[in-house]
Amino acid sequence: MVTAYDYPTGRLADEAGVDVVLVGDSLGNTVLGYDGTIPVRLEDMVRHTAAVRRGVQRALLVADMPFMTYKVTAEDALRNAARLVQEGGAEAVKVEGGREVAEAVRRITGAGIPVMGHLGLLPQSVHALSGYQVQGRETDAARRLAEDALVLQEAGCFCVVLECLPCELAERVTASLRVPTIGIGSGAGCGGQVLVLCDLLGLSFEKPARFVKEYAHIGKQITKAIRSFARDVREGAYPGPEHTYSDKC
Ligand code: KIV
Repeated sequence: MVTAYDYPTGRLADEAGVDVVLVGDSLGNTVLGYDGTIPVRLEDMVRHTAAVRRGVQRALLVADMPFMTYKVTAEDALRNAARLVQEGGAEAVKVEGGREVAEAVRRITGAGIPVMGHLGLLPQSVHALSGYQVQGRETDAARRLAEDALVLQEAGCFCVVLECLPCELAERVTASLRVPTIGIGSGAGCGGQVLVLCDLLGLSFEKPARFVKEYAHIGKQITKAIRSFARDVREGAYPGPEHTYSDKC
């Protein structure tokens, strides 16, 4: 699974052959320039999901439910999930949290919308978690997390993302579930893996987290290309005769 945020990234991810494209609320950081996911609104997710939808033909398209769109009431959660499916074209939605979101998961899946769970480091709860850090290190926290995974499965989640867990815990949770897990920063023992597209491409402005592997350095290439264009224009090297519609200029 990789994230995508617009038509070109959706299309490129789909053509690259991934199984799942996630319109992550990480778009708050990667595309909208916020310092987290909390400011992302449902309208942002609907609009970006619809753009990605136009580029994705093959992969399963999942959209994140943003901050507080599924934790107030289960009815709200269903109404908001329905917008991501009906207006955005998502085939499934993702929610962050364990037992506290089980009722919302039951309501959404009961209405026929598949739900992906998300446990461990939950960026929408960054203030309660005291920052972005590995979760489930303590025995009690690990036990609670493993229980939450089972609760999500029983509530109807078809898959659970495990973010920033110690790899032994991620393996244990994976082995305890019938549904697959997808890891990010949780080691190789999960059923699948996800990365944020801008991290994978080398297109983010922050120092990447330890678990990120940059498969390209697209940010540097973009700056280089734009610098070359500006230099050519300043030096009169662009546009040349081959770029014009008349041979008189
Ligand atoms: O928003 C996001 O990109 C995510 C992934 C990190 C799983 O939730």
